Amino acid sequence: MCGIIGYIGDREACSILVSGLSHLEYRGYDSSGVALMEKDNVNIYKAEGKLINLVEILKTKQDVISKAHIGIGHIRWATHGLPTTINAHPHTCNCKNLTLVHNGIIENYQELKEELTKEGCIFKSQTDTEVAAHLIAHEYGKTNDLLLAMQSAVKKIKGAFAFCAIHKKEPDKIVVAKRNAPLIIGVGEGENFVASDIPAIIEYTKKAIYLCDYQVGVVKKDSIKIYDDKNQLIENKIEYLPFEAIAISKMGYKHFMLKEIHEQSDVVRNVLSSKLTDIEHEIKFDEFKLTSNKIKNITRVQIVACGTSLHAGLVGKYIIEKFARIPTDVEPSSEYIYRDTIADENTLVIGISQSGETADTITAIKQAKNRNSHIVIITNRTDSTMARLADSLLPVNAGIEVSVAATKSYMAQLISLYLLAIYLKEQKGLKENEKEIQNLKHELITLPNKIEMLLEKTDEIQRIAKKYSSYKDFIFIARGINYPSALEGALKLKEISYINATGYGAGELKHGPIAMLDSNMPVLAILNSGIVYDKVLSNCEEAKARQAKLIGVSDYIAQKDINLFDDLILIPAVSDILSPALNIVVLQLLAYYISEYLGKDVDQPRNLAKSVTVE
Ligand code: M6R
Repeated sequence: MCGIIGYIGDREACSILVSGLSHLEYRGYDSSGVALMEKDNVNIYKAEGKLINLVEILKTKQDVISKAHIGIGHIRWATHGLPTTINAHPHTCNCKNLTLVHNGIIENYQELKEELTKEGCIFKSQTDTEVAAHLIAHEYGKTNDLLLAMQSAVKKIKGAFAFCAIHKKEPDKIVVAKRNAPLIIGVGEGENFVASDIPAIIEYTKKAIYLCDYQVGVVKKDSIKIYDDKNQLIENKIEYLPFEAIAISKMGYKHFMLKEIHEQSDVVRNVLSSKLTDIEHEIKFDEFKLTSNKIKNITRVQIVACGTSLHAGLVGKYIIEKFARIPTDVEPSSEYIYRDTIADENTLVIGISQSGETADTITAIKQAKNRNSHIVIITNRTDSTMARLADSLLPVNAGIEVSVAATKSYMAQLISLYLLAIYLKEQKGLKENEKEIQNLKHELITLPNKIEMLLEKTDEIQRIAKKYSSYKDFIFIARGINYPSALEGALKLKEISYINATGYGAGELKHGPIAMLDSNMPVLAILNSGIVYDKVLSNCEEAKARQAKLIGVSDYIAQKDINLFDDLILIPAVSDILSPALNIVVLQLLAYYISEYLGKDVDQPRNLAKSVTVE
């Protein structure tokens, strides 16, 4: 992960770097740092923890930093070495002429370190980045040219990187390189920028060059030159950035997460717009590039994703198999890439990712692309690496999601998958389930109103959150299409409250997890009216018999069953098939209020980052 930023021009570099880093903090917040070049001198400032700590340090150095018009900066999500100041970027070499920031993981850093140690390099940190700094400086010693040094160094590096380097002897440039980590060069007038992501520079420019893997760029104040791996100068491809400089604000909510939960009704409306207008017409999916004949030839679907996106994929399996009748496998991308997967030109491979930058999913997609499968990408970021790999790009348009815990992007992914499943069925000309499809279309159209109804009654969820906030463990159970809801509810709770929460298929409880049940282990059961209601109810009885506290989440509980539950959260009436889209709102709110009640850092939970660009 990590975020990098660079500036070269006439303005005060430091404030641009810090502003950029503030927009990259979603990529990590273990430490931050900047290196500011003034003439042939480089000053480095670093701080452990969040960016605010660096800002405090910089406030005391105003007279020095205001003179620098070139600089690089970094926000860290620790991979190698503790999140300390010494491990914070930027890193330098022995003579401190070269300064480097890095996003990624250098896999052969130990071997390189051993070789460089023999050459006299002295390492101060535990990071792989410091090894790269010494390596580039070592190569510089052979040529006295930063571009050549970078080109030669990256050939020796295995792994993923986006590098941004400055050198005291070449104070008119920033040199950048990338492989399997994002990097853009913002194009300005008499000034240029480097960043891991658009929000860091959008305030200053709307034009950028997306650096490709194996390219190295030399960024000066009034020129940008990019070279391929054979040192050939290539033509700059300038693109317009798909963002407005928006003030990302909490709009009066205490946390971004709460705001984003409340945005979900509009997110659903956005995803549906122009695709599903009324229940009589077929779904329109102009972004889907396979003809109906080719769709009829699809023999299997493979969904690859991580974390919350993986849970959306699990719901996707259920509905694609049910409606489109295509066998569907869902796998964490990080596992998919270590199997000799069976995929061919008749396999539809769907990558789901909020950020579009998750390294494991990118690798999985590339693997499937090599097998000639049709690649569908469902993402919130049309400018991402994954979007660029797509044969069919399905943007979810959920708007920027700031909170590290995914909420509205999950909702957008779910709705996209419902539409896709119906679309595949309709394109195949399948006539089964017609009535159910009409009903589902109607329910999708009315879903935003139901989400709003649910969000009007958060008091009860707050009360229950407070009541259960002191428990150290939680179990979430459900069956069928809500099994992924149990997984996602547990993930939400553990990532923002640090309470140990696990989701199980309710039927699995008796095969082991039931051993953990007693009065200290609350069980949250999702049991909508539908085919699995009675079965989940029996599993609830089994839990209750072990003195577990029971929380029910449902659109309907029979009068005779109400007393079984210690607490009940009722959602608006919904079919079993669409219920994950309502149940999840309850689970998001429950996690949010527990975390908030415990005083945790809701939007930036410890050890996590919004975009996971390392494998
Ligand atoms: O950007 P992606 O959707 O590919 O990210 C995948 C996971 O890293 C992400 O969903 C993560 O699990 C979130 N913290 C969930 O809230």
